[in-house]
Amino acid sequence: MANLAVFASGNGSNFEAIAKELAGTEHSLKFLLCNNKNAFVLKRADRLGIIKYLINYTGKSRHDAEEKMIELLKLHRIDLVVLAGFMKILTPLFVSEYSNKIINIHPSLLPKYPGTKGIEESYYSEDKELGITIHFVDTGVDTGKIILQKSFVRSGKETLKEIEERIHILEHLYYPQVILELLNKTGIK
Ligand code: GAR
Repeated sequence: MANLAVFASGNGSNFEAIAKELAGTEHSLKFLLCNNKNAFVLKRADRLGIIKYLINYTGKSRHDAEEKMIELLKLHRIDLVVLAGFMKILTPLFVSEYSNKIINIHPSLLPKYPGTKGIEESYYSEDKELGITIHFVDTGVDTGKIILQKSFVRSGKETLKEIEERIHILEHLYYPQVILELLNKTGIK
């Protein structure tokens, strides 16, 4: 049995997909951590009955914000940190504290289109094949070791919204599965 924490900043559709996949397993989604008081993900946490913590970065150094985060991770004995639309860069100190125990999902086929505009940059590119990447987090921006990539070929006639939906379908299908596999593996248990 392993403990998981999800960090998210916005809508939280991945958070919800993960929570639903883990329900009924031996593993436990201990809490949601969010840096944005207006994020819809906070409402999802309430609905799902999952503990939520709001860490406001404003007026704090990243280091101070992360100190509080590490305290919470230790308090809840977290084995795996899952970033799901968490729009803050973690410091090398945080990453080294949880080395190989932080994963992220990104809405492009990395190394293409890292950063916060993965879907838009993929959409407006000439690429026919688009997709998602699930990877370990290192000290770079979306540069860590890749765990899984899934893609599809677009016709070119899709709207941005349609592409976004296809990407989210892949994310909701594969991210929870990868997480479950990692939690089941010896080493993280
Ligand atoms: C997801 O598409 C995720 O891949 C992306 O944010 C979205 C969050 O959606 N993450 C990044 O762009 C990270 N650089 P959600 O809040 O509905 O789960």
